[in-house]
Amino acid sequence: MKTISLEELENKLTAAGQAHLLRFWPQLDDAGRERLAAEIMAIDWGQVSRMQQLIAETGPGESRGDIAPAPVARIDAAETQRSRREGHAALAAGKTAVLLVAGGQGSRLGFDGPKGAFPVGPVSHASLFEIHARKVLALEKSCRAGIPFLVMTSRANDAQTRAFFERNDYFGLTPERVWFFTQGMLPAMLPDGRLILEAPDRLFLAPDGHGGVLAALKRVGLLDKLAAHGVETVFYFQVDNPLAQIADPVFIGFHRRQRARMSLKVCVKRSPDEGLGVVAVRGGSNVIIEYTELTEDQKQAREHDGALRFGYGSVAIHVFSLDFLAQQAERELPLHRAYKKIPVCAENGRTEMPASPNGFKFERFIFDVLPRAERVALVPFEREHEFAPVKNATGEDSPDTARAAMIRRFAHDLREAGVDVPRDAAGMPRFAIEIDPLYAADASELRRKLPPEFRLNGDIYLR
Ligand code: UD1
Repeated sequence: MKTISLEELENKLTAAGQAHLLRFWPQLDDAGRERLAAEIMAIDWGQVSRMQQLIAETGPGESRGDIAPAPVARIDAAETQRSRREGHAALAAGKTAVLLVAGGQGSRLGFDGPKGAFPVGPVSHASLFEIHARKVLALEKSCRAGIPFLVMTSRANDAQTRAFFERNDYFGLTPERVWFFTQGMLPAMLPDGRLILEAPDRLFLAPDGHGGVLAALKRVGLLDKLAAHGVETVFYFQVDNPLAQIADPVFIGFHRRQRARMSLKVCVKRSPDEGLGVVAVRGGSNVIIEYTELTEDQKQAREHDGALRFGYGSVAIHVFSLDFLAQQAERELPLHRAYKKIPVCAENGRTEMPASPNGFKFERFIFDVLPRAERVALVPFEREHEFAPVKNATGEDSPDTARAAMIRRFAHDLREAGVDVPRDAAGMPRFAIEIDPLYAADASELRRKLPPEFRLNGDIYLR
């Protein structure tokens, strides 16, 4: 990097109202100065002024204006068959890739390490990464084709994530088809518009949100690499959901048959306050409105039959056409702000964590591409079969609820396969059950694999 003089830095920062970033300069050694200068030179000042505008904005957020619920697809048995065939064909022809976003910090879970390393298997204690990877592997086997598995990490968890896959032999996947890439970082801002120093020689930076996936894919050349591999369709999901039906052939096939640019799986919300984004139509375009941005009236509104008016939530399971992603990677996504506790460098040079929120973090959301998609399909699904996120340490959406949901799902498949699954007084399967995706992906495969004399009389891990 070309060396930059202190004077140049000072002029730049003073013009931008950010001269405080140099307040520890006299005390820094050469390495510290070089590091801070590089960080300052990398600041996108246009973006900083957009952040300042955003924090100055008050009033209603995304839910402003007239919104109506977005129509959800009705997929009958015949269409399910056709979609499944199309999805399988696309997988078998190598036209599909799987994209996992795992750059988040998982702060609500309070787990030390990448969230994907969290042990969630009810019997095996398999990690989220293992469960996802084994589903991809099972699909590769059943389709007899390689499926590129893209994993987005962030600066904080990239090395640990790669090491975790390596230590576990990629869970059986072919390492050359597991493509890690790291999302970008964004600075944070005090309410007065100043950027934040975390240490004397370091800006506070945080991951740029799952929307950062577009810029990151482009930066490292993965969009071109996917296209060169003949990929046309990308299945996208989040690390926290062990029930995700990865690259579900019906979903992929329906998306392709509809010639959609983006498709979303949606399920009926558990309650008006559940933390799911809802899909709505505004001014002729589809939009996702985050749960934090719906007004109380919109949250509570009901149809004549008593169902919630904005009753379908997105669980962040999407399918994209690769050319749509490539097109969108050329455009910037809007920023969202969140008022949070941000560590700051005190006058004595130490990093201090405030007791209450003190500044804004910024993120981009992938679903902000939705209004730009000319054709969209919303595909409903039964949440108990496909959605049990691990978000909180206890209570709703915690490891306990996710494990219970996995056991219920596996019990359901066993029953469908003709096995008697004893229940307790509360209706829960009496034993912990887990099925490795490679053993069987669904009830019909279970029926083929299970020995005829199979009886369930204790905890079991079928693998
Ligand atoms: C998210 C969605 C919500 C959806 C719900 C379903 C947002 C703002 N909301 O809520 O619409 O209904 O999931 O479970 O996304 N991630 C990154 N990099 C980041 C930030 C996040 O890769 O910088 C990844 C995380 O690793 C995780 C996923 O994105 O896999 C979700 O992030 P999280 O912040 O937990 O979203 P939620 O608020 O739970």
